[in-house]
Amino acid sequence: MGETGTRIRRHTKLSVVGAGSVGTAVAYACLLRGSADAIALYDTNAAKVRAEVLDLNHGTQFAPSCRIEGSDDIAVTAGSDLIVVTAGAKQHPGQSRLDLAAANVALARDLTPGLLSVSPEAVVVFVSNPVDIVTRAAIAASGIADGRIFGSGTVLDSGRLRYLLAHRADVAIENVHAFVVGEHGDSEVALWSGATIGGVPVKSFSVDGRPVFDPETRAELFDEVVRSAYEIIRGKGATNLAIGLSSARIVEAVLRNQRRVLAVSTLQTGRHGLQDVCLSLPTVVDARGAHTVLDVPLSPEEEAGLAASSATLREVQASLGL
Ligand code: LAC
Repeated sequence: MGETGTRIRRHTKLSVVGAGSVGTAVAYACLLRGSADAIALYDTNAAKVRAEVLDLNHGTQFAPSCRIEGSDDIAVTAGSDLIVVTAGAKQHPGQSRLDLAAANVALARDLTPGLLSVSPEAVVVFVSNPVDIVTRAAIAASGIADGRIFGSGTVLDSGRLRYLLAHRADVAIENVHAFVVGEHGDSEVALWSGATIGGVPVKSFSVDGRPVFDPETRAELFDEVVRSAYEIIRGKGATNLAIGLSSARIVEAVLRNQRRVLAVSTLQTGRHGLQDVCLSLPTVVDARGAHTVLDVPLSPEEEAGLAASSATLREVQASLGL
């Protein structure tokens, strides 16, 4: 506490690695939301990172106070409280996220030690895809398995599902609670058994006595969630805006020590029979990272889906020697 008894909030520094469409969307979303006191953008492309930082700084008069800097030197990330890594190859039309594994795992293995050497206490969140495999590689490369390193996982997918449910039910999205878990990718699983709208289970949600989400509708909506990124990539070349916003939500959970429950990707240690694989389950996120996975009840179908998702990821991990 300060002398006057007022609580002086510690200065928070966020570093974003990668000044591509996702990294700049993360930085822009965090600037607009006032997620951090300082943002550092790091990219090996000096001209690109300089231009993005100039553009962001020219907008700071219209946003909450934030000091923005950038460089092609990793030293610009020094002293970060939180590092969000978006660098790497991006999905092209027709490619799956898993197709990027070899390239982006190599990058994560190269980047992680250097980032931690200049920010030894930082929480590190990976966004680069395939985020579950990349996160697993970064944990292996750093030897840090206490939840300080985790992945953005299916936070965005859960947001997509909540959007579709809210839209179909004509209810504010804040009143929709639903999680997508497992791989951030084609094998992800919707937790229908725990999904609610205003406290009403989605499975029994009805309007004028008519059920709104019968099994066919649920399957249709979830298929739309899984296909979302492919559709957006076909139309505009990449997804960036929603991943930027969902990442800002994760940033705030860490920098403001919010203990928010988010579907982030962490190294599983036995729950639901899952070992030595990174995938998403509802997890408490705070200043220490993502360390408490909630024991969500799963239906037999959901257990089976999660096991299949884990098997898909472990197969890719094995092919990369992880
Ligand atoms: C998507 C990317 C972030 O799902 O994988 O939009």
